[in-house]
Amino acid sequence: MPSTLQRDILGISVPEKPNTGKKFYLETFGCQMNAHDSEKVIGTLVHEGYAQVDTVEEADLVLYNTCSIRDKAEQKVFNRLNDYKKFQKQGKKFGVLGCVAQQEGEKIFERAPYVSLVAGSASYRNLPQMLVQLEAGNSRVTGLDDRQTSETFDTEFTARTNKHRGYITIIEGCDKFCAYCVVPFTRGKERSRTSESVLAEARRMAEAGFTDVQLLGQNVNSYKDPSGEMSFAELLAAVGKVPGIRRVRFTTSHPRDFTPEIVTAIETVPTLCDHVHLPVQSGSSRVLKLMSREYTREKYLECIAWMKASKRRISITTDIIVGFPGETEDDFQHTLSLLTEVQYDAVFAFKYSPRPNTPAITMEDSITEEEKSSRLTRVLDHQREIQRANYQHHLGEIAQVMVEGRNEARGQLLGRHSQNKTVNFTTNALIQPAIGSYVDVRITKALPNSLVGEMITV
Ligand code: 5AD
Ligand code: SF4
Repeated sequence: MPSTLQRDILGISVPEKPNTGKKFYLETFGCQMNAHDSEKVIGTLVHEGYAQVDTVEEADLVLYNTCSIRDKAEQKVFNRLNDYKKFQKQGKKFGVLGCVAQQEGEKIFERAPYVSLVAGSASYRNLPQMLVQLEAGNSRVTGLDDRQTSETFDTEFTARTNKHRGYITIIEGCDKFCAYCVVPFTRGKERSRTSESVLAEARRMAEAGFTDVQLLGQNVNSYKDPSGEMSFAELLAAVGKVPGIRRVRFTTSHPRDFTPEIVTAIETVPTLCDHVHLPVQSGSSRVLKLMSREYTREKYLECIAWMKASKRRISITTDIIVGFPGETEDDFQHTLSLLTEVQYDAVFAFKYSPRPNTPAITMEDSITEEEKSSRLTRVLDHQREIQRANYQHHLGEIAQVMVEGRNEARGQLLGRHSQNKTVNFTTNALIQPAIGSYVDVRITKALPNSLVGEMITV
């Protein structure tokens, strides 16, 4: 019997092995890269004859795709594993995938002896072989990376859950080694896919009915075409010109590799979304140096100036870390003043969390938890005011919105603005617009985190 997921596998006739009767449950923690890796893991498992189920109870194989970016995220994974200890007697197999797996390696077997698979994301291309070992009864199967791999986890068996909006990985890993960050240790070295294979995937997606694609990479704009054909900006423009694609997003950009050509591409190719996520981390050049970010506040503001000079109004969002070792009140004030200067549309702020293997773990982390919390609150309060004013710019605008669902509680439809903002809207149309369709919405109200409007019917 074919698995229930086959229909979701992206526009390719998957030479699926007969269903083995084995069932897997997969839970994903963390970033968009992990979410997309999970879509590839699902595709690979279905191709191997497994069926996905919605509960741990029903599964033979329980997988966690994990995140270790901050200590809290990592603790969540171990708590979850603890919760499921009770199932070990039922003969279920447990696997830990992703960043915690790569970081902790075989130590996971000591900490959670009922786990029998530990695999980092750079080893997923070997998942079918690992499954064979697991099924043969091997209770300690590992797939760990030593930063040597030059391969990407490029698979045609991607089980995309959304039928209209999907991710395409263009670059994996990270070579930047920011002082606070585990990613270079968990995701391996930076490696890009050829522009040809990226474009082929975009074309297949368009043919399968996807209209909104998001190019993914830890540092998406550090993309280096192995075939030497295209720069990142050229690839962006080329994906934007694939027939059927209406929206192209990309995340996450690194200020060090941000170029005016990216802004020109956004300005000249209408399908490229008018939104750039450009993590700054701190507004103080002194702290940026301690973080090994390799740009100054001034250099970062130059990237912002290119975007602000664009004919298109580009929405800018960022990530901030507060309480990095040695951050003084004066440094922190520089972060607040940067927020004022840039006028971001969203800020994702985090308290510094010491991570294993990173250079910052040896720096004296003398800022108290209380002080970190206070700085976090001050950043968020400051940003809320900026955002409240910023979102007002949309009042009266007629925005194109991709319909994503219904907000039953409010009796409204829910959609996404090209700037990635949520739009709740009403409609008088007799026929409700379909999920995945694009409609024009007049914006009538601006909240700090979303927009409200009414659909224009003709
Ligand atoms: N502590 C706190 N925040 C961190 N980030 C990355 N590493 C850490 C850490 N050790 C944040 C950065 C990054 C985002 C994905 O997570 O802001 O941009
Ligand atoms: Fe981490 Fe820095 Fe690489 Fe981003 S660029 S993933 S923050 S090391």
